[in-house]
Amino acid sequence: MAEHLITSSLSFDDVLLEPKYSTIESRKEIDVSTDLNGLKLSLPIVSSPMDTVTESEMLRAMDANGGLGIAHRYNDIAEQRSMINSVKRKPPVSINTGAAIGVSGDYLERAESLVESGVTVLCLDIAHGHHILMKNALKTLRKEFGNTIHLMAGNVATLRGFNDLADWGADSIRVGIGGGSICSTRIMTGHGIPTFQSILECARSDRDAALVADGGIRTCGDIAKALAAGADAVMLGSMLSGTDESPGEIFRVDGMPFKTYRGMASKEAQIQWRGHVSSEEGVAFRSPYKGPVGDTLALIKKSLQSSFSYSGVKNLREFQYSSLFTKITQSGMAESKPHILQK
Ligand code: XMP
Repeated sequence: MAEHLITSSLSFDDVLLEPKYSTIESRKEIDVSTDLNGLKLSLPIVSSPMDTVTESEMLRAMDANGGLGIAHRYNDIAEQRSMINSVKRKPPVSINTGAAIGVSGDYLERAESLVESGVTVLCLDIAHGHHILMKNALKTLRKEFGNTIHLMAGNVATLRGFNDLADWGADSIRVGIGGGSICSTRIMTGHGIPTFQSILECARSDRDAALVADGGIRTCGDIAKALAAGADAVMLGSMLSGTDESPGEIFRVDGMPFKTYRGMASKEAQIQWRGHVSSEEGVAFRSPYKGPVGDTLALIKKSLQSSFSYSGVKNLREFQYSSLFTKITQSGMAESKPHILQK
């Protein structure tokens, strides 16, 4: 029998950031912008390439609010290209847009078409990114496009995976396996690492690639923890779902408005885009209707500024270098949530 090494991992709920002395007198002094290996964003938020999160309207809104949208790839090349074209058609200034591709099948043709239509970022979007097909695709795309396009790739959960993707040519890497709100990968396969732990691990990398935390980020506090742990941006699915700009119609349950939000490996999503189910590793659910995504992004920005202020820092680099985490117990977590109703 092989001897198994058992490591331990922390989740977002296991830690809090320690408040520190602050000299910041106004939120205006705080800059929440980020630099993803040359790609500058005034808000460190990226929208997930999912068919209930990012199409044209989300792409436009993400850019307008300083973040980045990644158009999903669960369509044919012409459909995905038309999402990009509709955003690019009325560019007052240059607009950042991202688009997802796979690593096999039509990926190269898709990439060429998307680059021609003017995307800023190509996102090589697969569930298990630490894979030979990812290696081949990254190398092929680097050869084809040189350094003219930003390549985002993922997902990975380990430092080894992060370093390999960086060495194969990725500019930014999505970190997190199985933590998404609609994921069932951990239940169905037994694999994954809590996203917070993966961020801590991958942030130790000495490579140049930027770190995009992805999956299981539920609150503004989780966003702050992910960034403080070393993420250069966070990718959001559920927090941006159910908004005016997310695809899909509003429906009502007991009078309350919702929109569908589903994992791309859910039975429902797979049947719609490829007509059959291969392995089922996601669920389909509904998200409460939230109104314009600009409101959600404005709240995230204000909360981040407040978070930087509690840590006494003025920008993301300082936040990553000087913030301190404390590990808490279950009772600490209970105290951290509003609890007046439990009396
Ligand atoms: P949140 O927690 O923001 O997570 O809703 C969004 C991220 O979840 C990933 N994703 C999936 N993971 N099965 C999975 O295991 C799925 O069906 C699935 N669909 C999306 C993806 O990384 C996304 O950004």
